[in-house]
Amino acid sequence: MTADHIAPGAHLLVTGGAGFIGSELVRSILARRDGTRITVLDKLTYAGNLANLAAVEKDEEQARRFAFVLGDIADPDAVAPLVAQADAILNVAAETHVDRSILDPEAFLRTGVLGVHVLLEAVRREMDRATAGDRTAAPRFLQVSTDEVYGDIPDGRSIETDALAPRSPYAAAKAAGELLVHAYHVTYGLDAVITRGSNTYGPHQHPEKLIPLFVTNALAGDQLPMYGDGMQVRDWLHVLDHAAGIEFVLRHGVAGEAYNIAGGTELPNRDVIGRLLAAAGRDWSLVRTVPDRPGHDRRYAMDGSKLAALGWRPRVSFDEGLPETVAWYRDHPDWVAGARSGDWDSYYARQYGDRLAAGRAVDGAG
Ligand code: NAD
Ligand code: TYD
Repeated sequence: MTADHIAPGAHLLVTGGAGFIGSELVRSILARRDGTRITVLDKLTYAGNLANLAAVEKDEEQARRFAFVLGDIADPDAVAPLVAQADAILNVAAETHVDRSILDPEAFLRTGVLGVHVLLEAVRREMDRATAGDRTAAPRFLQVSTDEVYGDIPDGRSIETDALAPRSPYAAAKAAGELLVHAYHVTYGLDAVITRGSNTYGPHQHPEKLIPLFVTNALAGDQLPMYGDGMQVRDWLHVLDHAAGIEFVLRHGVAGEAYNIAGGTELPNRDVIGRLLAAAGRDWSLVRTVPDRPGHDRRYAMDGSKLAALGWRPRVSFDEGLPETVAWYRDHPDWVAGARSGDWDSYYARQYGDRLAAGRAVDGAG
């Protein structure tokens, strides 16, 4: 394993820290009470939620090591002073839902391409300051990316050197962001690493994504809109493991390299749906097969051996993580109601209104 790139008491800038994975990173790092300080920069889009950081704000010792800044990663004036005080930047911020990227791609490009550019330019200025002796070292930059940059994988498993072949506006914006990071490493010598995580689930995930949408609908007795035949395959990774994998790469990743963070649990959507229905005490009568997502990738699958060779692997099994996730959503109706405020009803009508009207019942045994 390579040396630890993060010194004790480091100051981290976590963008998108009010979201699902970003807030897990913040909570788990600060709860270790090892002196690490964190500043979150978050725009609080519909997906950002300050309730995800309430545990930190409530704990006096953690709150002293934590700051929240409301702002956009594409705004140079917001970004510059925060990058200037950081020892490392974890860029977790993004627009993240494939279906929304199909309805309205522009925000994905603004945050995923321009936002990454603004962050990288700020890091470049800090490299100049380090060269001039105005700070001890330039900050390390970690870009959180996704297995979706590899595109549809009918057979085998993606390795880090495979070509990127994104097929949705979301995945294309993520690939563009990664390519910029890599270009800044090669051209300017920026100390940068990239993670590619697989489909993530767990508490605090916005209920637009498959698992939290179907769990919350099932608990409420509402219909579950399964796209097409439901035989699309995803590799599931618990959010605790995704956050731990990101931190591991920040500490031990080699500059200029990308690392797959694979969950190791590849399942067709139908299996996931069957298991979550069982955990929620419901049956297949709620499920509807609805017209498919355009350009829907049938399968994502990554090889996690590069990170395993450095000594990291996921710990939470799907058998354990899924029922706990269902229980979390059952126990947090106020959190769910908050996430389903704002534009939720109009989004739901736009995304699912016609689909559910055309939906058909599904034989769960089939
Ligand atoms: P999320 O949608 O729950 O949270 C995204 C956060 O980013 C929100 O708090 C939002 O307010 C913030 N944000 C969005 N645009 C911003 C901007 N311009 N400036 C500042 N903040 C902004 O997302 P998530 O599921 O936690 O995903 C986090 C990262 O992990 C993303 O980069 C995503 O591409 C990647 N990823 C997610 C998954 C997954 O299954 N959820 C899998 C692999 C990779
Ligand atoms: P999603 O959670 O949107 O993640 P991604 O598309 O980024 O992998 O979807 C996971 C899988 O679930 C994907 O194959 C699409 C499918 N899906 C449905 O069948 N119905 C839905 O309403 C949603 C949101 C997803």
